[in-house]
Amino acid sequence: MPTALITGANRGLGQALVRSFATDGWRVHACCRVPDKSLDLRRVAEAADGLVEVHRLDVTDDLQVRGLARSLEGEPLDLLFNNAGIYGPREGFGSQDFEAWAKVLQVNLLAPLRMVENFVDLVAASERKLIANMSSRLGSIAENRGGSSYPYRSSKAALNMATRSLAVDLEPRGIAVVALHPGWVQTDMGGEEAALTIDESVAGLRRVIAGLTIDESGRFFDYSGAELPW
Ligand SMILES: NC(=O)c1ccc[n+]([C@@H]2O[C@H](COP(=O)([O-])OP(=O)(O)OC[C@H]3O[C@@H](n4cnc5c(N)ncnc54)[C@H](OP(=O)(O)O)[C@@H]3O)[C@@H](O)[C@H]2O)c1
Repeated sequence: MPTALITGANRGLGQALVRSFATDGWRVHACCRVPDKSLDLRRVAEAADGLVEVHRLDVTDDLQVRGLARSLEGEPLDLLFNNAGIYGPREGFGSQDFEAWAKVLQVNLLAPLRMVENFVDLVAASERKLIANMSSRLGSIAENRGGSSYPYRSSKAALNMATRSLAVDLEPRGIAVVALHPGWVQTDMGGEEAALTIDESVAGLRRVIAGLTIDESGRFFDYSGAELPW
């Protein structure tokens, strides 16, 4: 049975991805910042017949990331899903909070790279060998006609570039690395007006992931499988 590790599993897309993979028989390492307070996630784990293991993981905490990687040593990871993310300040040009911007880069850009560096051997030892970085259409430079959202857009654009470099660097090990856009989704981040329910987005993401091979590595797909411009 395949195994996935999903970050940011406390709520939103991360939690729904955990439930979806476990329902299909995957073993899932569900990572959240504060397991004691993640009551919904723990309920998902309890209903999953031992398939879901909940771990404490703040993705910006180097010690925690290293510790988790060590504790999973010897366990192949078919899918590393870097899902955790924050939007950060929404102020427009002229009123940037640069410290808050740096925090967005820590979570959305540096943390996924830290995860890959720590877990790459477990992914390489698996059958599927997949790494999915949750990006956003707002990180597409080619599609940016709306401006603003400097912290979020720049973090996801940089994550896209890192995804592409990882695809090149990890190709010799047979690992496929992709950037995914989940659509505009009804989560705390997406808001109630968003176009997609969480289940619609997750069903689409699952289809895209199921079809991934090394030939798709280094590309940027949305939840429907459409390729997005960088
Ligand atoms: N919703 C959308 O429309 C949309 C569109 C495009 C891309 N995305 C991307 O999809 C991903 C999931 O977003 P979402 O909509 O599900 O957002 P969400 O409901 O706001 O959930 C974000 C998740 O990330 C976790 N997280 C934040 N900082 C973390 C950290 N330092 N360490 C570990 N976990 C951390 C949160 O944990 P806590 O609960 O502990 O805060 C939460 O579980 C993000 O990468 C986001 O950028 C979303």
